[in-house]
Amino acid sequence: TRIGVLFGGRSAEHDVSVLSATNVMSALDPEQYDAVPIFVTHEGQWLLSAFEGGTLAKPSGGTELCLVPGGFGRLVALPMGGAPYQMQNLDILFPVLHGLHGEDGAVQGLADVARVPLAGCGIIGSANALDKDIAKKLFNEAGIPAARSVTIHQDNAPGFEQLEQALGLPIFVKPARQGSSVGVSKVSSKADYETALSEGFRHDSKLLAEEFIRGREIECAVLEDADGTLFVSKTGEITPADTHGFYSYDAKYIDEDGAALKVPADLPQDVEDEIRAVAIKAFRALGCDGMARADFFVTAEGRILVNELNTIPGFTDISMYSKVMGASGVSYPQIIDRLVEHGLT
Ligand code: DAL
Ligand code: MG
Repeated sequence: TRIGVLFGGRSAEHDVSVLSATNVMSALDPEQYDAVPIFVTHEGQWLLSAFEGGTLAKPSGGTELCLVPGGFGRLVALPMGGAPYQMQNLDILFPVLHGLHGEDGAVQGLADVARVPLAGCGIIGSANALDKDIAKKLFNEAGIPAARSVTIHQDNAPGFEQLEQALGLPIFVKPARQGSSVGVSKVSSKADYETALSEGFRHDSKLLAEEFIRGREIECAVLEDADGTLFVSKTGEITPADTHGFYSYDAKYIDEDGAALKVPADLPQDVEDEIRAVAIKAFRALGCDGMARADFFVTAEGRILVNELNTIPGFTDISMYSKVMGASGVSYPQIIDRLVEHGLT
């Protein structure tokens, strides 16, 4: 199977994607897969990469690639200063891109236009899950408990007092369409709020102010099989180190001791069962297919609140998806096999 692995990308999670894709490439069995790594630059250009010695090349020029509309995976190479040539067709496209322009339905739409099968979640589920504001509305509509929130646009930001009244303190202010906690601030005062707004609006034109949920951070993996059945993994728990206050970008990727993962999570069986059932409901509510990681808060009173779904979850060394799948008896290569099988069906 000739599999195009897209990585890098235009979003703030470019570097995270490189880490994820490196692990995906390592997990692809060369007997079974003929992988074509495709580096997506910060500007969005597709460049032919190479995977050597466990490292993915991030070229700044060389050979541009183009997936032909209606071409059933036809891939054209445009070498700089050379004549274009046709490469062997792709059988499937696997975007290992996080955030905007990669996890939001855009590349998924491109796969559809190119008529090439796609590994992972399709257009509508990707778009819904990436927009935390839309996702929240769909969760509410489906009766799935989630933190209360207020949507903030640049021209209608509510006053601090108004938000405090609606949501209490502290409040989390986050870009509606970002991942890895990029641009997220914890707000306890009016001054914090001003800073949070300018930080948030640097990343998106739409923000979400959310009530703070004091609870444990629990996650699980959802994988849709080719026949449409949903496999839900065991749960895992994330404990951010006290110094970070929440599971921030730095706690995730910069500070080695920024967070601890416990897999499986230590939860009473009924709570675990409930979380896994809600994960399926949430997956369906957003119109997802293929795969997603479902993130929850579980409070001391036993309330289960969905935080978000990630349709292209991180596959870095510290990422949860493959760990909870592993704890559920599904290895890294098996995850990929099942995603590919789902995509080809
Ligand atoms: N957005 C990051 C990659 C994650 O959800 O794991
Ligand atoms: Mg995310």
